[in-house]
Parts: sequence; structure tokens; C-alpha cells
Amino acid sequence: MGFPGTGKIWMNGKLVEWKDATIHIASHVIHYGSGVFEGARCYDTPNGSACFRLDAHVRRLEHSAKIYRMSYPLDLAGWNDAVLETIRANNLKACYIRPILYRGYNELGVNPNNCPVDAAILLWEWGAYLGKEALEQGVDAAISSWSRMAPNTFPAMAKSSANYANSGLIKMQALADGYSEGIALDVNGTISEGSGQNLFIVRDGTIFTPPLGSSILGGITRDSVITLARDLGYAVTESILPRELLYIADEAFFVGTAAEVTPIRTVDKITIGTGRRGPITEVIQKRFFDVINGVAPDIHGWLTYVYPDHKRGASGEPRAAVHAR
Ligand SMILES: Cc1ncc(COP(=O)(O)O)c(C=O)c1O
Repeated sequence: MGFPGTGKIWMNGKLVEWKDATIHIASHVIHYGSGVFEGARCYDTPNGSACFRLDAHVRRLEHSAKIYRMSYPLDLAGWNDAVLETIRANNLKACYIRPILYRGYNELGVNPNNCPVDAAILLWEWGAYLGKEALEQGVDAAISSWSRMAPNTFPAMAKSSANYANSGLIKMQALADGYSEGIALDVNGTISEGSGQNLFIVRDGTIFTPPLGSSILGGITRDSVITLARDLGYAVTESILPRELLYIADEAFFVGTAAEVTPIRTVDKITIGTGRRGPITEVIQKRFFDVINGVAPDIHGWLTYVYPDHKRGASGEPRAAVHAR
């Protein structure tokens, strides 16, 4: 993935050219990681471009900011409008959406309070994060020697820039060792998540995923997959998962806005199930893609359509009324 280097970026309410969207080197966020951000996606559906669960992403952004004592004069509707305006200004059909709130330029020191809270929304085109082939073939993953942050150190539920120093270590180690992705354990040695994805295991027909207390980010894809799997009649349990359960799972898969639903075929060179995308993974993956692509009815109200010229939503309601909850 490379940036196009063109297009418009929303910065504190103004649309600026990509090349002009710069901040000062003395901005607090650069030195102290004082940013919180989101990653959402807009899909090109048969009924027009639609953001997937935009409200949920904005809500998590607000919660991340609250944890870090940052306030910004935009409410949920204001953020939604700003995202939609930026997509329209860039005339994009499908894109990755990156809103970020960060401590800007005023002084440097650990205390961020005297630095302004600035905001930006960037968009770019981003395909399958772990590769298109991986969506079918699965990826090779390894348990990382880096753990996820311990409770009460860095708040895992906040999607903060600082947390991604840990994610970067996990990802770099996995790549250096020849794997596509690393799986981090939490401080207790039980399964947490990937460097930028949540994780699910299937065993004897039941679907398991670690709970929020296992130092995971409360992923919006995770929540969507839990909902869709239950809609499909599967039992889903959020529970503490020992590492070895992964090795003896029938199926395992990563989920996230970037990774979408990606099967895991090996962990630490141990084959998971048959070493291919498992049948339950396939059913869930298909339903997930049908929903995000606007092919299946949007029964949960997860799609927010971007362009005002649309007439009808996938559910048959006027599109203006089809808003993510
Ligand atoms: C560490 C981590 N866990 C999980 C996820 C998945 O979250 P979501 O589904 O909201 O993208 C992400 C992606 O942002 C992540 O960075």
C-alpha cells in the first residue's frame, strides 16, 4: 500500500490539499504518542458508497478521547458529517477512513494539557490488508514473544497511537520470522489478539473469542461478527482462551476493519484444522462480505450511504433513513 499523495484531507474543519496537510515537528503527538484514532471503511455497494458502522467508529473515537482527557467540539453527528463531507470532496467510491485526534503544537513536556487537541480525517484506497489470497487460503501466524500491554498500563480499549508501538513490535517480529501476522498473549499468558485484529477460534461447532479483559481492542468487526454469527444460529462465547486451544482449534480467523475476516491456517507452524479456510469461517466471512458490500439486507442498520443522490437503501427504506446505529 502506498499513498496516492493527492486528494483532500479534513483538518480542524477545513479541507486542505494532501501535500499541505502538515503539522509542526514540535507537536506533542510526535514525541509522546498523544493521539487517538479510528479506522473505518467505505464500500462501493450496488446502492452506492456506504460507510460500515460509522456511528460505532465515531463512538469509539469519542471514548478513546475521553479516556485520554481530550475534548473536541464535534459530536457524533458532526463527526459523521465531517467524514461524509471528506469522502464526497474526494469523490471516492470506496476507501479506508482514518479520523485522528491528537495533541498539537504549543509546548513539549509529558503533560499534554497545554497542547491543543487537533483533528484530521484522511482517506485512502486500501484493499485486502493481509492480501486477497489470504481471504481464501488463510495466513500463517505465530505467537509473539511480545505480550499485549498489561491491564492498567496502557488502556487497550482506547485506540490510541501509543498502543501501536506494541502492535508494531508484534508485526515486525512476525514478518522478520517469516509469518504474516503475530498473535499476542496478554499478561496472564492467555490469548489476546493480533497486532491489528481480533481473533476467533472455532471448536466443536462453538465460536470463541477473548473478552475485553484480555487486553484487546473492542473491535467493531468483532462485535459485527459476534452478531452475524448469532444471527446465523451459532453459539458464540467470549471467554479467556489458553494458548494451546489455538493449536487444537478446528478453525481460527482474524477480524478487523483492515483484515476483514481472514482465516488462519497455521500457528507456530502447527496446522489449524485442515489448514484451509474452515466451513464456519467461510459462512461467517460470506455473510460479513455480503453485509458490508450491501448485498445482504442491512437488518442491523450498519450502512451509512455517502452520496445524497441515492434513492433507496438495500433494506428498501429511503437511504437517508438508513443510518448506522
Ligand atoms: C489492536 C487491534 N485490535 C483489533 C482491531 C479490530 O478493530 P476493528 O474491527 O474495530 O477495526 C484493530 C483494528 O483497528 C486493532 O488495531
